[in-house]
Amino acid sequence: MRINTDVLQRLDAVEFPSPPAVVGRLSQLLNQEQTTAAEISAALELDATMAARVLRLANSVALGGDGNVHSVSDAVLRVGVETIRDIVYALSMMGVLQPITFEYRPFWKHCLTVAHATRLLQERTGKAGQEHPEAYAAGLLHDIGMLVFDRALGSRYKTVLAKARARGRPLWEVETELLGIDHAEAGARMLTAWAMPTPLVEAARLHHRPGESEERVAHLVNLADLICNNLGYHHGTGFLPALFAADGWARLGLEVTALPTIAVEVRKGMDRVERLLAAA
Ligand SMILES: [Fe+2]
Ligand SMILES: [Fe+2]
Repeated sequence: MRINTDVLQRLDAVEFPSPPAVVGRLSQLLNQEQTTAAEISAALELDATMAARVLRLANSVALGGDGNVHSVSDAVLRVGVETIRDIVYALSMMGVLQPITFEYRPFWKHCLTVAHATRLLQERTGKAGQEHPEAYAAGLLHDIGMLVFDRALGSRYKTVLAKARARGRPLWEVETELLGIDHAEAGARMLTAWAMPTPLVEAARLHHRPGESEERVAHLVNLADLICNNLGYHHGTGFLPALFAADGWARLGLEVTALPTIAVEVRKGMDRVERLLAAA
């Protein structure tokens, strides 16, 4: 592979807004297996606007509420501590990371759907000792490198996206060919700079090559990404994803025959995805 030093320099120079303070606190909470209602409430006190948006969402039926949620602790009781944590994470990231040269909505819809599917697969396949509290966040941030390229390269990245679409080839292959680095690696570099938990960084880095990772969450994200792309929830670059790799299913102890049931569950979560998109 030809490393393009000019691209690397631009990546190093790109300035991203720092994640809101609430995300830093949530990243710490993601490292814990159990997060308490009190910890979530304390994290939300860092951001009153965020707390108000979370309350509004927690009142919607799609999120399991019934219009009678009046406080963050009520919200935690109604929809659960993990769901509140995931909502705050999603809203915070969508707020600070917005694409310039490609469309916001399909991109974030893809990321939210993959996040949801990653958590579903974790719930379906995780055994004792295989808890991954960061599963949702790992799915949410897996393609974040596309936003890094977008900021660093501007219209040059638009050309890369157009070429991948025109050639009907996986984006990461075309990026590697034209830029010497793909969005998976670019995303992992940014998440490292943001001091995100290691499993999140690893899931971003190897979501297209999970066979090279010991991190189970990288395998979860890879399969969730494949499933969502094949169901049509892709980020709008238009290429047809690779066919299912049988070993991706086997690694998680799943049979490909489980796909129809998983597809139904992913689609059931789309109401929630739309609500989050509308609230961002
Ligand atoms: Fe990707
Ligand atoms: Fe993706």
